[in-house]
Amino acid sequence: MRKVRFQPEDTAQPFRIDEVEAPVPGPGQLLVDTDVVGVSLALVRMLRGGVVPQGGPGGEMVGRVAAVGAGVEGFRVGDRVGGVVFADVYAQSVLAVPAMVTAVPPQVTAAEALALVRGGLVALSALRVGRFEPGESVMVTAAASGAGHLAVQLARALGAGRVVAAVRSADKAGFVRGCGADEVVSYAQASWGQPVDLVLDGVGGELVQRGVDVLAPHGRLVAFSAGGGTVDAGSLLGGLKSVIGFSVGLTSREQPELIAQRWGELWELHAAGHLRPAYHSLTLDQIGEAIGLIDSRSNLGRVLLRMA
Ligand SMILES: NC(=O)c1ccc[n+]([C@@H]2O[C@H](COP(=O)([O-])OP(=O)(O)OC[C@H]3O[C@@H](n4cnc5c(N)ncnc54)[C@H](OP(=O)(O)O)[C@@H]3O)[C@@H](O)[C@H]2O)c1
Repeated sequence: MRKVRFQPEDTAQPFRIDEVEAPVPGPGQLLVDTDVVGVSLALVRMLRGGVVPQGGPGGEMVGRVAAVGAGVEGFRVGDRVGGVVFADVYAQSVLAVPAMVTAVPPQVTAAEALALVRGGLVALSALRVGRFEPGESVMVTAAASGAGHLAVQLARALGAGRVVAAVRSADKAGFVRGCGADEVVSYAQASWGQPVDLVLDGVGGELVQRGVDVLAPHGRLVAFSAGGGTVDAGSLLGGLKSVIGFSVGLTSREQPELIAQRWGELWELHAAGHLRPAYHSLTLDQIGEAIGLIDSRSNLGRVLLRMA
């Protein structure tokens, strides 16, 4: 099988595609032959930082079960599945654990499923942990990203009173309005307009405090980016505001049933026509271009690689 080897220390050739043996699933594992694999900011951050985990970067994938390890129930060879793996996802065959894999409904294309299994999961989870209620106003930062554009669509579908999309450059305005945003603001704007009840922040850094500042009294900010950031605690108590963290990885370990439930909700919302995942589809050999789309912050929706 073909597998990407990342070597960020080699700045001239930070990745290459090797031909290697497919892994063998151990007890409790599935082997999945991948149709599509996601490329995301997490990978770009690793490459920028010059450090890639020993086991290779993880991420989302969609494909078919090729082998089932001892003790695995609920999956059979040939099942069409998607999910998140925490290591070595950039390969034509990957190892997955059942708790992080879901059956993909037949009517959902591989690309759409790929966009939903991680980006959609993050977006829906952020709304849930942020205690979103219909009628509330929601701001989404990195609103054109793989997770962000689905957060805009979900907020709209779940009955938000007002949806504000925050993006770095105004040329993404048409795209995020098409996803359902009522208003678009750019990070550079001095004012982000009227206060909102909920901010879903996928950027981090200085945008975290700006997000807190735009919250209405009792507002919540859900921090789910790996971009860090600090908050002045004093800015919270005056408005009875909260900041809440969310991570797919930790939730999958502590409450895997929540992940399964949210995937079920996402398939239903998609079947009802409320979710229209956007994506850039490239071949495995175009991985450099795929990484470049995110590194240049120019992607509209998910970036994915076709593995066949
Ligand atoms: N907590 C979790 O479990 C979890 C899981 C998945 C993703 N996430 C987070 O969700 C956010 C979106 O992830 P994604 O995979 O959906 O993103 P993505 O599809 O790869 O999109 C990347 C977009 O993020 C924005 N961005 C913000 N900071 C950036 C930076 N320093 N460099 C490049 N782009 C940056 C850019 O849009 P603008 O230029 O318009 O900002 C860019 O177009 C990320 O912060 C990621 O860490 C969290």
